[in-house]
Amino acid sequence: NYYAILMAGGVGSRFWPVSTRDFPKQFHDMLGTGETLIQKTFYRLAKLIPKENIFILTNERYNDLVFEQLPEVTMRQVVLEPAMRNTAPCILYASLKIQKENPDAVMIVAPSDHWIEDEQAFTDNVQQAFDFCSKNDALMTLGIKPTFPNTGYGYIEYNLSFEKDIKQVIQFREKPSYETANQFLEQGNFLWNAGIFMWHVTHVVEAFKKNQQNLYRLFEKGISVYNTEGESDFINEYYEKAENISVDYAIMETSKNVYVIPATFDWNDLGTWGSLYDKLEKDPNQNAVVHARTLLEDASGNMIRTKADKVVVIDGLKDYIIVDKDEVLLIYPKSKEQDIKIVLNKVKDTY
Ligand code: GDD
Ligand code: MG
Repeated sequence: NYYAILMAGGVGSRFWPVSTRDFPKQFHDMLGTGETLIQKTFYRLAKLIPKENIFILTNERYNDLVFEQLPEVTMRQVVLEPAMRNTAPCILYASLKIQKENPDAVMIVAPSDHWIEDEQAFTDNVQQAFDFCSKNDALMTLGIKPTFPNTGYGYIEYNLSFEKDIKQVIQFREKPSYETANQFLEQGNFLWNAGIFMWHVTHVVEAFKKNQQNLYRLFEKGISVYNTEGESDFINEYYEKAENISVDYAIMETSKNVYVIPATFDWNDLGTWGSLYDKLEKDPNQNAVVHARTLLEDASGNMIRTKADKVVVIDGLKDYIIVDKDEVLLIYPKSKEQDIKIVLNKVKDTY
């Protein structure tokens, strides 16, 4: 009864110029290991979940990339969105499909683009969550011990006095302000939401029914035609009418039955060049180099990526991102990595 939904519809704009709208980061070998992020994620999940029960949720634009990179999946497993509406609509859509196929499904929803090294610890944590949510009405997430007041994450306040491995959630707060995040860290009983969710299919559908009635009604209409020719017509007509909202705001913040497992593995959401840099091996001067052949003089703390074997000569550069990709060359301070999104918007029409 185990199922997975792999979310692979994001654009990864802070990883421009490697990640682009037509070829986003989950389909790239960001770590230089020979496997793309979605391949890594798929095989990590396959340790616990039958391969044929792993569904890929993505924009219709990426259909070919999915089949190229995961030749084992069948059309039944690829759920295509005709428009980008963030994670809540696609999770509800896929959950209703899975519920129709197996009303007893216990499932995990996982991003396709994260770094997790200790696969055994990951599998153990998920197994524990599956055991709990197959018996309890619970929306579960994996929580990471926070190290700084990151405003790009969701925060989970948990009840200290609850069971050791599974904590009852007092509140779930998606992307708080810097001041609030700081308070959360001082208070101590907060974890970062890793963006990995586990639940029984009945309970997630119930949560949408209760907290997102419009969204629920929109897709409920289509249930009658699911698994028939009519499904794609229905989705093509209605999907873009769905509200653009993430699953965090849609059901996690508003539900009472939320539980968290403090993760026993090291995690990184590979959201920016800097977070990738943190996970890569460095040379003695703390430069991380992917694919390039470098000749570095007085260069330290740089994140360098080019096509294979390109020779890169640098003298006198510290803490920069240097990325060479086809017609774009990016040389940008690591400290401003969040702004790459904005830069991309400015140059978008010119390359
Ligand atoms: N299929 C599909 N369709 N996938 C999507 C879409 C969509 O429209 N939008 C985003 N995704 C995918 C992304 O590719 C990513 O793998 C995942 O869903 C999460 O989306 P993000 O856009 O990366 O979310 P976030 O980083 O702002 O926040 C989430 O993740 C944080 C941890 O990385 C939240 O869950 C936070 O609470 C959490 O801390
Ligand atoms: Mg993210």
